[in-house]
Amino acid sequence: MIKVDVKGCSTFVDAQQYGSYVQKALEAFDVLESEKGAGNDFLGWKHLPSEASEAILSDIEAIRKDWAGKGVDLVIAIGIGGSYLGAKCVIEALSHNFARDMKKKEAAQVIFAGNNLSEEYLAELMDLAAERNVACIVISKSGTTTEPAVAFRIVKQFIEERYGKAEAASRIVAITDAKKGALKTLSTQEGYKSFVVPDNVGGRFSVLTPVGLLPIAVAGFDIRALLEGALEAEKKLAVKSADNPAVEYAAMRNLLYKAYGKKVEILVNYNPKLTYVAEWWKQLYGESEGKDGIGIFPASVNNTADLHSMGQFIQEGDRIMFETVLHVEKAQRSVVIGSDEQNLDQLNYLSGKHVEHCNHMAELGTKLAHIDGGVPQMEVSFEKVDERNLGNLLYFFEFACGISAYTLGVNPFNQPGVEAYKKNMFALLEKPGYEEATRAIKNRL
Ligand code: PA5
Repeated sequence: MIKVDVKGCSTFVDAQQYGSYVQKALEAFDVLESEKGAGNDFLGWKHLPSEASEAILSDIEAIRKDWAGKGVDLVIAIGIGGSYLGAKCVIEALSHNFARDMKKKEAAQVIFAGNNLSEEYLAELMDLAAERNVACIVISKSGTTTEPAVAFRIVKQFIEERYGKAEAASRIVAITDAKKGALKTLSTQEGYKSFVVPDNVGGRFSVLTPVGLLPIAVAGFDIRALLEGALEAEKKLAVKSADNPAVEYAAMRNLLYKAYGKKVEILVNYNPKLTYVAEWWKQLYGESEGKDGIGIFPASVNNTADLHSMGQFIQEGDRIMFETVLHVEKAQRSVVIGSDEQNLDQLNYLSGKHVEHCNHMAELGTKLAHIDGGVPQMEVSFEKVDERNLGNLLYFFEFACGISAYTLGVNPFNQPGVEAYKKNMFALLEKPGYEEATRAIKNRL
């Protein structure tokens, strides 16, 4: 189970004041658990681990088997925001760093599309698809989002031309609303196998639905272990207590923000595989809390690389931030530094040491330096990067997000601000129905 350590904040905050924020977070915990707070029609994510459906898991595993039987080696997963980041974060965390370049392939490669509108990206994706045996998962809860819709039109045409319409239908899976949206209509008409995004689960909380589980499974990872890890967190975090890790995390980040003006939280990792955990976390906290003119800005760094770029600002720039470090206790692989007779690089003092030991010392040294530089430190630690621990971590951040946003005083489960760019884009693209908006926006140019 993940642990939260807030000791690296103790020299920055008043202990009594922290106690009062723990009380506020416990009240927010009650709001979340009573299911009476703002956005309470979007709480389905809370029970996804304990209510995981065997039928859905078996369906997902059957698709993995079917596609493996067809020799599929490239799965294009189309989606944006919550319909992409959860799967991307788990797959990146669990994959061999050089999976793409290794000769031996354990499972299909999952590539993401529909999360940008770059013409080059799609053209080059089609170059790759032309060389590979392809299937596609298209994910959109609303079924109407432009980026994935554009990508899907292109990928669908490619698959139909390559394999014929009937075979294409067995190589495309849609994940969308149960009843509404263009993607639902299309998938019914084309006879695609489909999964439902439950009404009461918002995009950024959907990683433990088929939205995340299907791409993760076809990439070769154990979705049952992921769910077991999440279930452990579901049970543990449901206990109301001042040392509930989600309460501690929510209390400290709100205290740092509200009483000490720390407006930026940087999620720090020391393992490149966790880069997309931070991207997923940024969406989760950014969309859940950044509204009504308030909110902590979620940022991230990948260390030790970023100690040689952002490290300068974090050490000595404007004191607007605190850091939350993802501390991984054990490396999954072992590399020991050898000794060298000549010792020209003067590294013999490290011979016999594991690289991960150096990594941990860099982490500890940075933590102390940043405390000295005026940056409060929190730590979220877990044993190792595997399915079980990741399930635990993802559920922890979701649950803590609900508590934190209620402590902050906002509805965690809406994202009204996301609509503004869409209206302008539709007006500029002259979408039917937007004639008035098109005239108005053109007058501004
Ligand atoms: O968290 C959210 O709700 C959003 O980020 C959505 O996931 C994102 O906008 C994609 O929406 P959809 O799945 O409807 O295409």
